[in-house]
Amino acid sequence: FFTQKAYPDWKGKNVLVTAGPTQETIDPVRFFSNRSSGKMGYAIAEEAARRGAVVTLVSGPSSLLSPAGVETVRVTTAAEMYDAVLSRYPDADLVVKSAAVADYRPKETFDQKVKKSNDAMSIEMERTKDILNELGERKEHQVLVGFAAESEQVVHYAEKKLEKKNLDMVCANSIVEPGSGFQSDTNKITLIRLKEEPETLPLLKKNEVAERILDAAGKLMKMRDR
Ligand code: CTP
Ligand code: CA
Repeated sequence: FFTQKAYPDWKGKNVLVTAGPTQETIDPVRFFSNRSSGKMGYAIAEEAARRGAVVTLVSGPSSLLSPAGVETVRVTTAAEMYDAVLSRYPDADLVVKSAAVADYRPKETFDQKVKKSNDAMSIEMERTKDILNELGERKEHQVLVGFAAESEQVVHYAEKKLEKKNLDMVCANSIVEPGSGFQSDTNKITLIRLKEEPETLPLLKKNEVAERILDAAGKLMKMRDR
């Protein structure tokens, strides 16, 4: 109650957050995935709820518990995340897409476990849909915040994503910096907005990073309201 009074702008705002990896099925026992833990997205969802927003968290497979006061929708594949996000998009005021969505999935999935042979094998992959790109194309009143996980030229690639996906802000994330990125409890990010210099935050705990991201996103929402 006390905290929410401190954030009158957030009361009743609809915030949609995605988190975690996706898993793309090969056969009943195998999948392709990535190292995302979901910690960053869960921290953002928790902080938005603490500020009084109505929060929906669309989460890929993660061992984390649903944050207090957050409606968590669990999905497995990129295609399921696409449906869960797009159906909730019209009502959203703010979308924060921290999920590490698979870019490719196996073209074919097998109903039975694939047996080994002595030959080499390869799996043909096809593209998944870029969820954030679609949100950018359909953007109306929403403030759109993306992430960019990069191993080199972090700001340069992140700026390209801001422009290409029609975003309001990108949280650029070096995945090679010590104490930053997947699995870690801390993160070092650079906030990238249109017509503003990139703002590099110090190495912070993910809940502190969540506060900084939402402070910046809150300002963008206010500008949108005017
Ligand atoms: N994203 C998405 N749907 C996808 C792939 C990515 O919504 N199929 C979103 C992520 O949630 C993230 C942003 O796009 O907010 C950037 O993801 P990232 O993997 O850094 O960039 P990509 O655009 O996929 O480009 P690349 O992986 O080639 O760097
Ligand atoms: Ca990607």
